[in-house]
Amino acid sequence: MEITTFSNGPRIKNDISFLDADHVKKVYAFHQSFPMYQKTPLVRLDALAQHLGLKHFFVKDESKRFGLNAFKVLGGSFAIGSYIAQQLGMDISELPYSKLISTETKRKLGPITFVTATDGNHGRGVAWTANQLQQKAVVYMPQGSSLERLKHIQEEHADASITDLNYDDAVRLANEQAQKYGWVMVQDTSWEGYQDIPRWIIQGYSTMAMEAFQQLPKRPTHIFLQAGVGALAGAVTGFFSNIYGEKDRPIITIVEPHAADCIFRTAKAHDGMLHFVGGRMDSMMAGLNCGEPCDIGWRVLESCADFAVTCEDFVSAKGMRTLGAPIGDDKRIISGESGAVTSGLVMELMQNPAYASIRQTLQLNEQSSVLCFSTEGNTDTENYRTIVWDGKESSYGQ
Ligand SMILES: Cc1ncc(COP(=O)(O)O)c(C=O)c1O
Repeated sequence: MEITTFSNGPRIKNDISFLDADHVKKVYAFHQSFPMYQKTPLVRLDALAQHLGLKHFFVKDESKRFGLNAFKVLGGSFAIGSYIAQQLGMDISELPYSKLISTETKRKLGPITFVTATDGNHGRGVAWTANQLQQKAVVYMPQGSSLERLKHIQEEHADASITDLNYDDAVRLANEQAQKYGWVMVQDTSWEGYQDIPRWIIQGYSTMAMEAFQQLPKRPTHIFLQAGVGALAGAVTGFFSNIYGEKDRPIITIVEPHAADCIFRTAKAHDGMLHFVGGRMDSMMAGLNCGEPCDIGWRVLESCADFAVTCEDFVSAKGMRTLGAPIGDDKRIISGESGAVTSGLVMELMQNPAYASIRQTLQLNEQSSVLCFSTEGNTDTENYRTIVWDGKESSYGQ
C-alpha cells in the first residue's frame, strides 16, 4: 500500500461549478423521472464502526441501482439524455424519461448507434439506455472481460464483444469506429474536442452523491472513492466540495489498484501532467483497470481531493467478505471487486498495525465518520463466489 498527497503547495483552483447545486438538481430531476428510479440504500454499519474504532461507517449500496447491479447507468443515461436534448435544441429539464423514450423523439432523431468501451458496468448502462430508446448500441470490452458481464450487455440487445485490447486501446477502437460509421461515442475519457459527453457522464454520477448527502445524518469527516479513469471520483469530490466549501469539506481519498494506478501516479508527480499506465493491467478490480485518467475528472481531484492510495487486490477481497458477512445488527451488502475496495481499505487501515502511519496521515480515529460507495454488487457472480467462499485474493493465475 502506498499513499501520496494531491497537493504539495497552494491548491490549483480549477472550475468545479459544473457540479454545483443548480447542475446537480437538474441531473437528479432527470433520473427521478425514470419509472425504475429509487434511491439506493445508505447502509449504516454501526457494529463495524465500533469494531474498527470509528464513530460512523456508512456505505452507499449501488447494487440496487435500476436493477443493473452498479452505479454506472447514472452517467451513461444522463450523457445520452443530454446529447439528445442538445440535438433537439432543448434543455435537459424539458426531456424527462417519458419524452426521451417517446416515438415522437425517436422520429425527430432518426436511428442512432451509441458506441462505447467498457469493462462491463458502463457498457451495460449505455446498452440499457439505448434499449429504452429503441436505439442501437455497440460495446467493446477489453481482453479478459467477464463472460457474465458480456452476457448482461448482450441481453440489452447491444452488439457487444470482448476484444484482445486493454481498456484504453478498446476506447481508441470505439472512437475509430465512431468516426468511421458516424456513431455517437459515449465514453468517460475526454480529450480535446471530446468534452461534452464525458462531462455529462460525470454530472450523471452526481445523483449518487446527492442521495448520499440527503441520507447522511451529518457531514462525513472522510470520503473514500475508488477510481478507474477518475470520473466517478471527480463527480463525488466535486459535489461535496461545492456543498461544504474548501474549508469544511471532508478529507477525500482516492483508491486504486496498484496495477492501474494512473491517478496515484499523476498525483504523486505534482507536475501538472497526466501520467499513464500501459500494457496489461491485472487487477481483479475490473472496473478500476484503467491506465489513463479522464482529464475533466482529474481537474476536480487536482483541486479538491486530498490523498491517493494504491493497494493490492486482497484489500478488495477483504472488503467483499466483510460486507457480505456483517457483525451485530449490521445489514449485509453484496459488494463486487471494484465496489468493495474502499471499505476493505478502511478496514485494513484501522486493523493492520503496518498501516498505522497512513491511518494517522488520514486522521482516521474514533471521531471519524466515514463514507464509502459500494459501486457494484456481484457483477461477476462466479468470481464473487470464488473470492468470498474460496478465499481467492487476486486475479493472478486466472
Ligand atoms: C463498479 C465500478 N466502480 C468504480 C468504477 C470507476 O469509475 P471511473 O472509471 O469513473 O473512475 C467503475 C468503472 O467502470 C466501476 O465499474
